[in-house]
Amino acid sequence: MTPVRVNRRGMLLAAGTGATVTGLAYLWQEKYVGDDLQGSPLAVDLTELAVGKLLALDWQDKPVWILRRSPTALAGLEAHEARLTDPRSEKSVQPATCRNRHRSIKPEIFVAVGLCTHLGCVPQLWGSDGFTCPCHASHYDLAGRVFKAGPAPANLVIPAYHFESETRLVLGSSA
Ligand code: FES
Repeated sequence: MTPVRVNRRGMLLAAGTGATVTGLAYLWQEKYVGDDLQGSPLAVDLTELAVGKLLALDWQDKPVWILRRSPTALAGLEAHEARLTDPRSEKSVQPATCRNRHRSIKPEIFVAVGLCTHLGCVPQLWGSDGFTCPCHASHYDLAGRVFKAGPAPANLVIPAYHFESETRLVLGSSA
């Protein structure tokens, strides 16, 4: 299988070879299945992360987001599930500990790779409803679950992580 780098430049290089969008999406998923996206551990202090705030990190040449969700945001995740491509995250990439409605270990702390699963653009916050990709208008909810209306085939990738203490998260390892 042709290797595809998991960043925008890599996706564009792959597109230049004539690969189809569907093929790229497939390769995107294949890159992570089975390895849980582990990597150089990075400790992150969440003490200053207020409710509603998104912390954007650069980790392994990829943007990674950490968002502290409000109780209202969490309560709203169920309402739109009929409009989602993969509401139970059965075909999306995340650690087993994050295969739940909120796609996280602690419900309020959301961690995700900030790259669209269509062609790898970086989505932006979409008001208080989730994330929107400026490239071809894929939308994701506040758990990174993609809406059916856009071209992205899967939910945002959740990397491996764990909590070392109540306020200290370690990205890149599920130990
Ligand atoms: S890259 Fe096409 S919708 Fe995001």
